[in-house]
Amino acid sequence: MAVSGGIAAYKSAELVRLLRKKGADVRVVMTRSALQFISPLTFQALSGNPVHTELLDAEAENAMGHINLARWADKIVIAPATADTIAKLSHGLADDLLSTLCLAATCPVYVAPAMNQAMWHKPVTQDNVKRLIAYGITMIGPGQGEQACGETGYGRMSEPAEICERLWAEPAAPYLHGRKVLISAGPTREPLDPVRYITNRSSGKMGYALARAALKAGARVTLVSGPVALAPPANADVIRVETAAQMHEAVISRAEAHDIYIGAAAVADYTPVAVQPEKIKKQDEQTTITLQKTRDILAEVAQLARRPFTVGFAAETHDLETYALGKLTTKKLDMIAANWVGRDHVGFDSEQNALQVFWADGRQTLSMTGKLHLAEQLISLIAKRYDEKNTA
Ligand code: PMT
Repeated sequence: MAVSGGIAAYKSAELVRLLRKKGADVRVVMTRSALQFISPLTFQALSGNPVHTELLDAEAENAMGHINLARWADKIVIAPATADTIAKLSHGLADDLLSTLCLAATCPVYVAPAMNQAMWHKPVTQDNVKRLIAYGITMIGPGQGEQACGETGYGRMSEPAEICERLWAEPAAPYLHGRKVLISAGPTREPLDPVRYITNRSSGKMGYALARAALKAGARVTLVSGPVALAPPANADVIRVETAAQMHEAVISRAEAHDIYIGAAAVADYTPVAVQPEKIKKQDEQTTITLQKTRDILAEVAQLARRPFTVGFAAETHDLETYALGKLTTKKLDMIAANWVGRDHVGFDSEQNALQVFWADGRQTLSMTGKLHLAEQLISLIAKRYDEKNTA
């Protein structure tokens, strides 16, 4: 466990205690500034191991403490990870023990950010986080709420119990082996004339991450994708569509041959009644487009005679839980994953997301993290519920 210098360092003591309770052997590395917030003696007492603070360790056999520690660790968690630490890691700097250790490590690295909400939302921090995710580092949090500086927002370090659970979770085993999973992703485009269309802000990142996570879990994946600028996951059967009607046809004709359907696409709720054969000319000051409802793909999948385990998404700007629970019941879903949209850095077109997942007799919050990591957690939850339903 690496501790960098933030007020949340006091929570890291509890994290060491929880990890030890689980049976982990914990070694703690502290940065210079972490030493200003908490004493190494606290970590030494809790971990039962000496605490490491210096890059060049005269007591290590080869004076290369960072290499020895990097070889020894099965997992590294940086909690709290300050904006400075995240910036260093994302640029491959190696000027202290923590950064050098991470550069030398070949094991999974987890980062639990903790900083003021404005620092977290700064584009430079978000770019650094994106880079870390792209390098395969897993973000845990941050959570939302009141901060030590008196402000409120994202930037609180996740609670030690949550970090501990996430570290303890085994890497994705092939728990969907042999299962067929159908996933819809991205937006739809509803044409007005040969050159214009109505669409939405979906990038397809969430749906594509779910496809990758399902493949990693051993499933055979069919991905019905609206127009997006993403490389398709290798090994998925990708069906490209443009309109809601095409997505409807692609999904409904395949759904009964799949075990699980996940509707992550942002399907247009309305489409123009008529597509003009020629470009609409600019004439009057105001104009009206008449729209008609599209068919609800998700609700129709849930009505099929051989319905797959049906998972919907709910994208909400307000009353998230009420609307999500409403969709769960009216569309007769097995599960629904609700996310906020219309806010910065979550939902549409962001690298990260957070979900509140509901089913008939349960719920789970999956806190803010990279979409791939979030997708792995959601797939694991779906697999558990799917098994429960099929063994009941
Ligand atoms: O693609 P990203 O940029 O990564 O963003 C991800 C996301 C925000 C698009 C995704 O996480 C998400 O929330 N997807 C669902 C968006 C949506 O359309 O939500 P909704 O609450 O309007 O619809 C509820 C459910 O009904 C969804 O599962 C949707 O796929 C489905 N639906 C809606 C209309 C329709 N005609 N047919 C449907 O199947």
